[in-house]
Amino acid sequence: MARKKIALVGGGQIGGILALILAQKSLGDIVIVDLPEKSGQMRAKMLDIMACAPQDGQDAELMGSGDIADIANADVVAITAGVPRSPGMTREDLLDINLKIIRHVAQAVKEHTPNAFVVITTNPLDSIVYAFHQTSGLPYTQIAGMAGALDTARFKAFIAQAAGVSVKDVACLVMGGHGPTMVPLVRTATIGGVPIQDILTTEQITEIVEHTRNAGSEIVKLMEHGSAFYSAAAAVAQMVEAFILDKKRVIPSAVYCQGEFGIQDYFVGVPAVIGAKGVESIVEFKLNQAEQEMLDVTLNAVKSSIAKLDII
Ligand code: APR
Repeated sequence: MARKKIALVGGGQIGGILALILAQKSLGDIVIVDLPEKSGQMRAKMLDIMACAPQDGQDAELMGSGDIADIANADVVAITAGVPRSPGMTREDLLDINLKIIRHVAQAVKEHTPNAFVVITTNPLDSIVYAFHQTSGLPYTQIAGMAGALDTARFKAFIAQAAGVSVKDVACLVMGGHGPTMVPLVRTATIGGVPIQDILTTEQITEIVEHTRNAGSEIVKLMEHGSAFYSAAAAVAQMVEAFILDKKRVIPSAVYCQGEFGIQDYFVGVPAVIGAKGVESIVEFKLNQAEQEMLDVTLNAVKSSIAKLDII
């Protein structure tokens, strides 16, 4: 069977690490594309990763490029093109600049590889995914925003840390928009199958929820320039892998909702089944009243960001 082609659009902090992770996983041939003036840098990054192969044993073709047409006929496109936050900025502050970039990239995906499964990371995530769909016109099942995978990974990591257990034994879910209104669902969180409320104190849980919501901003502040990238790349890789290997993994992702959880015609973070057909389904379940109210708040935040798309 021919190897899959994976196109990475944006070869900065997240794109570079993502290329390394995907190459180490031997998921397919990789082309990383950035702006024309960064063509040399992209080729250099791929030459560098190529020299990891003898240690890792992966066999993939790696290519760096400054020409977006090189994404042609990709099976998967992972988009990280865009500007990251600086200290003091919200993700929403990036809308103006990143909207122009995503419209350009969406046009290129439509032209060069309209059958690809597309994973988007550029912020502000939920409205950028919406804008990508507006411009590209790709089917909803081919588009997923990466946010819930990262927010849920943070929620898991903080629970494991507080309880002093392996993160492998923690299960939980974060829904909603990728911003301060996100909804870490405490009711879904378990340690080895036991609800966290039976193990951790209310104070510990409250602190974990707040930490999950603010983890991205904490990193931006400490980093001084740029935002989280190792964990973001790992989260995108998880989604790409689920698609390529048809794993049908349940990964919270910003996908198109048509009535699920009371969300109509928006891309918002919900548990989605990702497999060879892209977004194969949404795992819907009944939220209690408090949870539904939190989800409505986050949906309103997403809607007000999307409302700006027409005037930019
Ligand atoms: N086509 C291709 N690449 C582009 C384009 C474009 N039209 N416009 C910008 N880029 C590239 C930049 O040249 C840069 O190399 O996107 C890359 C972004 O890399 P970084 O600045 O390092 O940002 P990163 O940390 O990777 O974050 C990317 O993901 O999480 C979000 O908020 C974050 O929006 C940001 C995005």
